[in-house]
Amino acid sequence: MTKIAVLVGSLRKDSINRKFAGALEKLAAGQMEFVFADLANLPHYNEDLWDNVPESVTQLKAVIENADAVLIVTPEYSRTYPGVIKDAVDWATRPWGKNSWAGKPLAITGTSPGAIGTAIAQNHLRTTMVAVGTAVMGQPELYYSYKPEHFGANGDIVDEATKTYLESWIGSFAGWIANTGR
Ligand code: FNR
Repeated sequence: MTKIAVLVGSLRKDSINRKFAGALEKLAAGQMEFVFADLANLPHYNEDLWDNVPESVTQLKAVIENADAVLIVTPEYSRTYPGVIKDAVDWATRPWGKNSWAGKPLAITGTSPGAIGTAIAQNHLRTTMVAVGTAVMGQPELYYSYKPEHFGANGDIVDEATKTYLESWIGSFAGWIANTGR
């Protein structure tokens, strides 16, 4: 079973991105195990905190390092990705020489109620994740414009066309992980 560290860029309980990540988890069941990183207690990046490392930082780095690949599911805030993701990215690059991201296969997706479905946020994040040394899947892209009617009561995707596309995207991610040698 391929282990996937999942980072969700929204902390609110009714997050559509968390819901979308949960739907992807269900569709990937049997081939991937999703391990959700807890970003709620992560402080802003502060070099001084390495003197007494917060448990949330240690845990984040462990979740990434113990995974075969990483999936980031993020909203778009002010036409980029949210600060919680930037803090997670920065913490996991340090301490110097212990970059948890190095060589990890990674995919990015996200959802918003708007028509472009986080395209700009994902584009910015892709640049960042290349810079920190992950192997970012470039294609296929997945910009999901959120439609509540696509989801059943238990969080499953019930819209057949959407389900088919998402399953195919997960298959591409699995292929990407295999091809990058993890
Ligand atoms: C937003 N939203 C938003 N949507 C978008 O498509 N492009 C954007 O630039 C922004 N900017 C933005 C800024 C801030 C501060 C907030 C709070 C929201 C709307 C956003 O897509 C919507 O609130 C989603 O529901 C957020 O995702 P979660 O929290 O439901 O996962």
